[in-house]
Amino acid sequence: MLLQKLKNQFSAEFGGECSVIFSPGRINLLGEHIDYNDGYVLPAAISLGIYACFAPVEGRTIEIIASDFNNKVTIDADNIGPEKGWQNYALSVLNQFKKRGIQIPAFRMVMGSDLPIGSGLSSSAALEGAISFVVNHLSGAGLSAKELALLGQAAEHDYPGVKCGIMDQFANMLGKENHIVRIDCMTQETDYLPLELNDYELVLVYSNVQHALTGGEYNQRREQCNEGLAHLKAKTGKTSFRNITHEELDEVKADLTPVVFDRCTYVVEEIERTHLAADALLAGDIPEIGILMFQTHWGLSNLYQVSLPELDWLVNFAEDFEGVLGARLMGGGFGGCTLNLVAKEKAAAFTTEALEGYKAAFGIEAKAYPVLASDGTRLI
Ligand code: GLA
Repeated sequence: MLLQKLKNQFSAEFGGECSVIFSPGRINLLGEHIDYNDGYVLPAAISLGIYACFAPVEGRTIEIIASDFNNKVTIDADNIGPEKGWQNYALSVLNQFKKRGIQIPAFRMVMGSDLPIGSGLSSSAALEGAISFVVNHLSGAGLSAKELALLGQAAEHDYPGVKCGIMDQFANMLGKENHIVRIDCMTQETDYLPLELNDYELVLVYSNVQHALTGGEYNQRREQCNEGLAHLKAKTGKTSFRNITHEELDEVKADLTPVVFDRCTYVVEEIERTHLAADALLAGDIPEIGILMFQTHWGLSNLYQVSLPELDWLVNFAEDFEGVLGARLMGGGFGGCTLNLVAKEKAAAFTTEALEGYKAAFGIEAKAYPVLASDGTRLI
């Protein structure tokens, strides 16, 4: 339905034929805030995302309609610069092609999304992926999916100024149906783990508290980790969190502020947990994944301090609900979704009761979304 609406809008606005792509959002099973700390992460592309209808056009003018915002932007392909709003992400992607010496083609596009903005499902990476895929396709630049992901990350660092890791853009480009993309964030190598949860399923609960990473909290966490790492490096000679032990962290404790020590403790623990989660997934030990998810949540809440009362409430509720193995806030934090590992037969009751209880506690309508691990950005 959404796709048909976008196609209709394309032909009403521009006329003629169009091609269509889908650029997905992502979940992350485990490994939060460690993609910029040399950890492994376990995301997957999902079936919610951005659909874009597009066609090349003569001249140098790019026209993009964001159907969700009822907003059209016109861009001079030879004169790219930062602007406010959603188009800043698109402009930053275009600028990255320019920086790589690739001639930006003119095109027309209508896009729309079933991914709630600010839900922590990485609508920004989906937007970057949609634009970069189309430009790559139309220009014949021939960049690989991995190169496009890195281009998207560079774009997010540049105009929007969010110093994100590589997880979201890699999941968006390299996602595979029914699989987790395991990313080694140190080497940027990836492999795929089957997402087989037996009698359990993943349920997203969107708190309806919008998360925005541009607030500076995200970049601040990154700086705090770097500060801790500088001390660890001075003491141990190690240049990465990848191999830091708890003993080594304790050795520098006196040199760190309590806040920086907590951030580093979380990072060291989360790197360990993500290894355990990957092993558990491969072994079919689903309860173990649930235990790790809860641990991650309370680490994010108490040590990394990126949770909110609303997210803690949802996780507490899940902890008390029979049939839930694990739950945690997912993504950057400060709003967005919790990811819940729930017995299939209990999923409907869990969702209904969680949403009702949440409404009673906060007066906010939460929403639940099913999770299907999907392929990365692609022509459809
Ligand atoms: C955001 C960033 C990612 C990652 C997560 C936290 O989604 O874009 O790179 O750091 O937060 O895991």
